[in-house]
Amino acid sequence: MQLLARWFSLFGLLLLSACSSVPVSTYAPKLGQMGKDVMWLPTRDELVTQMLTAAQVSPDDEVVDLGAGDGKIAIAAARQFGARAWGIEYNKDLAALAQRNAEKAGLAGRVRIVQGDIFKEDFSRASVVTLYLLEELNEQLRPTLLGMRPGTRVVSNTFGMGDWEPDQVIRVGSNTGYFWKVPAQLAGQWSVQGLDRRGPVRLALTQRHQRVGGTLAWGDKVQPLLGARMDGADLHFSFVKEDGQLQAVQVRVQGATMAGEWVAPYGMLEIQPAVVKVSAQRLGN
Ligand SMILES: C[S@@+](CC[C@H](N)C(=O)[O-])C[C@H]1O[C@@H](n2cnc3c(N)ncnc32)[C@H](O)[C@@H]1O
Repeated sequence: MQLLARWFSLFGLLLLSACSSVPVSTYAPKLGQMGKDVMWLPTRDELVTQMLTAAQVSPDDEVVDLGAGDGKIAIAAARQFGARAWGIEYNKDLAALAQRNAEKAGLAGRVRIVQGDIFKEDFSRASVVTLYLLEELNEQLRPTLLGMRPGTRVVSNTFGMGDWEPDQVIRVGSNTGYFWKVPAQLAGQWSVQGLDRRGPVRLALTQRHQRVGGTLAWGDKVQPLLGARMDGADLHFSFVKEDGQLQAVQVRVQGATMAGEWVAPYGMLEIQPAVVKVSAQRLGN
């Protein structure tokens, strides 16, 4: 009798494995199973939370996880941070599992998993991008990421982005994540009003990702920008005025124009400069 029962269960298993597709609801991915370009390994819960915290995810955000696996990052973005989230996963069984996981979490209205290739899908509308891929895949995605709206936030588990230095390193135990903010593209020549009462000043900017430097020129007098830094679409720098005083400036870049004003050094509220508007137009590269 026992032998018969064992034979039946063995027969059942053989029948199951002979079927071309395992019933969807019993699908269980294996750690390290190969995906299209990289294997599946889930990001640890605590690092997921810290990466989304570093990216300051809020209900205003649309988060996309590139290579969504079982959907845990998209689900956490919606459940813990109130964001709308979607994931792109190449493996159709994993994509279906991730969508079921979102439904089980009661988040079907805010989390969507699409089966697709991260190198083909258009995710340009996202405000936050999460990655757990490989350094070389991050580097392949880098032009697309740098072409996204300035201020878009990017976080990656373990892997960097070549010479695009992270704005923040996230450490959780032995795990590391990285955070970047997409900078505006502002390299080139600009004409700036509001720095000098005698007239427009010529600004020449050199940029590599979020690192920026340059010079201000009044006629034949040239001075380097002091402490120039970018934060998404915002450019901060200081310069020495004609009276020899240091002055800080903050402008927001929007395409071929910049607009902003004089600001207190280091954001010191007790030293409020007179309101002086600064604006700039791009002259060329
Ligand atoms: C290391 S896992 C990360 C899973 C999830 N993002 C996380 O952090 O828990 C990478 C995932 O990317 C998927 N993948 C690999 N190449 C892909 C591609 N070209 N397009 C979409 N997904 C891909 C794999 O199937 C795998 O699920």
